[in-house]
Amino acid sequence: QKAHLIVDDDFTVADVDPRVFGTLVEHLGRCVYGGIYDPESEYADEDGFRTDVLDLVRELGVTTVRYPGGNFVSGYRWEDGVGPRDQRPLRLDLAWHSTETNAVGLHEMENWLHKAGEKNVEGQGIGRPLEMMEAVNLGTRGLEDALNLVEYANIPGGTERSEQRRANGADEPFGIKLWCLGNEMDGPWQLGHSSAEEYASKVQQVAAGMRQIDPSVELVVCGSSGHGMPEFSRWEGTVLDRAYNNVDFVSCHAYYHMVNDDLASFLASGVDMDGFIADVSASIDAAKARAKSSHQVNISFDEWNVWYLDSEPSKVPSGIDNWPVAPHLLEDVYSTADAVVVGDLLITLLKHADRVRAASIAQLVNVIAPIMVPAQGKAYRQTSFFPFAQTAQAAQGATVLRPRLNTSHVSTDKYGEVDALDTVALRCADGSLAVLAVNRNTEKPLDFTVSVPGAVQSASALTLHEDDWSLANTDEQPERVGLKENSSVSVEAGEKSSEVSVSLPAVSWTILRVR
Ligand code: AHR
Repeated sequence: QKAHLIVDDDFTVADVDPRVFGTLVEHLGRCVYGGIYDPESEYADEDGFRTDVLDLVRELGVTTVRYPGGNFVSGYRWEDGVGPRDQRPLRLDLAWHSTETNAVGLHEMENWLHKAGEKNVEGQGIGRPLEMMEAVNLGTRGLEDALNLVEYANIPGGTERSEQRRANGADEPFGIKLWCLGNEMDGPWQLGHSSAEEYASKVQQVAAGMRQIDPSVELVVCGSSGHGMPEFSRWEGTVLDRAYNNVDFVSCHAYYHMVNDDLASFLASGVDMDGFIADVSASIDAAKARAKSSHQVNISFDEWNVWYLDSEPSKVPSGIDNWPVAPHLLEDVYSTADAVVVGDLLITLLKHADRVRAASIAQLVNVIAPIMVPAQGKAYRQTSFFPFAQTAQAAQGATVLRPRLNTSHVSTDKYGEVDALDTVALRCADGSLAVLAVNRNTEKPLDFTVSVPGAVQSASALTLHEDDWSLANTDEQPERVGLKENSSVSVEAGEKSSEVSVSLPAVSWTILRVR
């Protein structure tokens, strides 16, 4: 198995938008309570935030945080989460059959975003507050509450709600730019879910109203909640035809997992994501043409990950008298193969850097997450942490180069013949080259050669691979799986161009750095 990539800086896709390395922090299970916030923990800071989690978030390199959901937002009243804590109500969370204590709300989240953006002693962290991507409730609520929230968050002062924010301790407005208009409103599971026509008309009103308060907001409309949804594409067309010029992003969501032990198809999940992005781009282009518009709507891939939807930790509680606070939910333990797929999904998002201008791995802590908090001791890195952190770091300020790739193929039951190697090359901010690569072979290694312009001085690679791809990091063995130096890298340097070669083991993710 072989592949050859030609790197040519004259042909680029786009600069990487930092927002592509966002995440979702939902009031779900132990993501907020017992995840980022746990005043009882020995690691809690003066505000109750876990410092061990904050440190890993800085290392992970996330940039934006979609908040407070997810399905949760469709029943959420944002006012419950502001003001004196001892006066905040306990509420039923219908999405996850839990009790919401409201101990964390908008102000606490803003505070946490500032802390998570600070650099730590090792210099990790993005060096500016993480960006809030606030979702408004279009399930049980609508125009008036969305407007109240924008006034509360973004008006400097002098009105009832902006003064309320100031009285609650935030003198300066939060200045939230990115807003999601509801969540997965096409999904029958969504509280208040609607038809495409109903949602489109709501979006038209809410988007126009929000812009009347703050013309600088950037608005994300719900696309279909999956590539396979029955209304996929008709939904996007209907919504965009009503609101094209008033919105900035269409949201995409995709989760993948291995079905019936079919590893080959699972490793090729990026093929589906690739087609999904192409299809939504086509819907956007068609709506743009119909609107005769020069405005560009982009994609916000604001939920993506591996998620074992049917596994036991995904089951929500039930029973009229059973509404637990922060139950263990969706706590998937990720294998090495899962992490390879996560790495490939990132490669796929980057290959579409011209259309995908925002994205969020869902979610951040405990709940289908790269960071886990065990019952005892410090938070640790799941296997999926490694490709995300390495990619986010390399892609900061980078440009995606247009791939010229020749590769062997592998056959899959789900997608037929697919490229055995998936890869993307980035010209990094410091002038070096980063090549991200996944070998989708289930058994065979792959010889990968990259032709690079100019005389290469040095090359090195880190690879995520275990001979037993089911190995994971767990509460008992939190550091079992990690990145290893790939010693197979070799360089044939020439004056005009150089060849860098590396052997990629079966079921592996690699980052090759070339200077
Ligand atoms: O991320 C978990 C859930 O998946 C979100 O709440 C919802 O938007 C999606 O269905």
